[in-house]
Amino acid sequence: MEMKAYHLDPDIVTPKLQEVGRIADESDKILGNTALYTFRDSRLLVGEDSSGHLVGFVQYYMLKKKPKITLHKICIKSIYRRLGYGSRLMYLLFRHCRECAIQSIELKCPVGVEANIFYEKLGFRLIDVVTVKTGRKMNKWIKTFPWSLNDNGTL
Ligand SMILES: CC(C)(COP(=O)(O)OP(=O)(O)OC[C@H]1O[C@@H](n2cnc3c(N)ncnc32)[C@H](O)[C@@H]1OP(=O)(O)O)[C@@H](O)C(=O)NCCC(=O)NCCS
Repeated sequence: MEMKAYHLDPDIVTPKLQEVGRIADESDKILGNTALYTFRDSRLLVGEDSSGHLVGFVQYYMLKKKPKITLHKICIKSIYRRLGYGSRLMYLLFRHCRECAIQSIELKCPVGVEANIFYEKLGFRLIDVVTVKTGRKMNKWIKTFPWSLNDNGTL
């Protein structure tokens, strides 16, 4: 399983971004999300297989004042699931965290969906169960990293 990953500008509409949007719509049907979808102001790491076909994406926000990432969504196209692509994409995000000295990733995932097993396997820790505005119960997961910056800004 080979995968190339790169960041896509979420504010410039291209056929590739539209394809990412279709994958997001597909997962929203599974997750029952009704909110209008937008990539604006987020960061988008997309993965492609060795033939250049889009495999999936992870969408996240980097907080301005804290060395922390909020993961908004990860989605792998259904035909590519359970092949390790989702984990690979997350490992690349972890590497990016190291490069940017990010100390934690937080996310919420609906209680009962299979993705919870995925996060646990990646070393996330369940810290809370919260009820969001829609009345839905969400598991709150966190992954913390051991690295921190030295006084001179190096890792
Ligand atoms: C969750 C998701 C991103 C996982 O991506 P993936 O590429 O299928 O995951 P991987 O192949 O890397 O799986 C790694 C491990 O996670 C666990 N896992 C992943 N999907 C699972 C599932 N559906 N059921 C149970 N365990 C699962 C398994 O332990 C798996 O290891 P294994 O295949 O050796 O048993 C993908 O299933 C997806 O896009 N789902 C729909 C959207 C979604 O739910 N996103 C999360 C919203 S909070």
